[in-house]
Amino acid sequence: MTGEIAFGVDVGGSGIKGAPVDLATGELTEERFKIPTPQPATPLAVVNVIAELLSHFDLPAEVPVGVSFPSPILGGVVAWMSNLDQSWVGVNLADAVRLGTNRHTTVVNDADAAGYAEVAFGAAKGHPGTVAVMTLGTGIGVALITGGKLWPNAELGHIVINGRDAEKWAAASAKEREGLSWTKWARRLQRYFSEIDRLLWPDLIVVGGGISRKHERFLPLLDLRPPIVPAALRNTAGIVGVAVLAAQEAAAAKAGAASTTGLSAGASSASKGHPQRTSGPGTGAAIGNTSPAEQSRSAAAIAGAAAGAAAGAAAGAAAGAAAVPVTSGVNAAQISTFPDPKIAPPAEELADQTQGG
Ligand code: BGC
Repeated sequence: MTGEIAFGVDVGGSGIKGAPVDLATGELTEERFKIPTPQPATPLAVVNVIAELLSHFDLPAEVPVGVSFPSPILGGVVAWMSNLDQSWVGVNLADAVRLGTNRHTTVVNDADAAGYAEVAFGAAKGHPGTVAVMTLGTGIGVALITGGKLWPNAELGHIVINGRDAEKWAAASAKEREGLSWTKWARRLQRYFSEIDRLLWPDLIVVGGGISRKHERFLPLLDLRPPIVPAALRNTAGIVGVAVLAAQEAAAAKAGAASTTGLSAGASSASKGHPQRTSGPGTGAAIGNTSPAEQSRSAAAIAGAAAGAAAGAAAGAAAGAAAVPVTSGVNAAQISTFPDPKIAPPAEELADQTQGG
């Protein structure tokens, strides 16, 4: 793939960042560009910022786009949301970005994208065993890779410890919010990582997220069974990983075949016949794509303009539309939402239910 590029976008709570990525080396071919995340971070506003980000680069039309996003993603659809606007739940992000940029688009959970990059190019390069790549930021993201294959959407940042959603208590944002010392925060991480080890028994833990730049302040304070190392790609991991996944998916779509390449092939046999997983992350060929059945459901949703997204979209329209060149971006009617995404309740609510029963 030498010389070929794909464009990676990383959507975070404070910034939306993007850059073209050399697919052979995993290096950014141009400096990363960052636009502050619009507030409120509604679907319409965010998709239009992604389109605006793209317009800052002079990219050939066939360059695919990958979007790394902080939620579980099923078939390009945001299945659940912890830290951005709740109106995201059920939104078909892949379709919206495709419409807004006119490019082949793949959407992947941000931790999965970062984990993919760390195994392909970084701290876990070529690791044959089970690797847990954990990102510590606003939330806790977890990518599980075993034998080079990814288990997508492992939302293990939300395991319940002492009746609390672990990320609310142990993420880097908790350290900042509560003014915790490195030692106090490390005690929480010790508890959290020990629990992860007790459940998953990984061969290696890789720690990413912005705070991993200061890994020497907290990793030496942890006493764990498996080796624990800082991420090598730091905060470009999401961009790099999702760009490579987008390129793989675009190539597979072009070939008209189900992809069996790379980490993302792992779930394909287990997902046979599953309406969401067959077109969702984990199946290689179709990460971020919608199946014909989903397309008709999403067309119905566009017609019906599901209340949550439409309201959120209208609120975000001013912020998003004003900044976007007329040749790119989407309008509210192009943000399709699944009326009934059947989302799971927040982890803390689940804990309450368990304790009550
Ligand atoms: C989200 C995950 C995400 C992680 C890191 C969590 O709150 O539920 O999907 O990977 O934050 O952004």
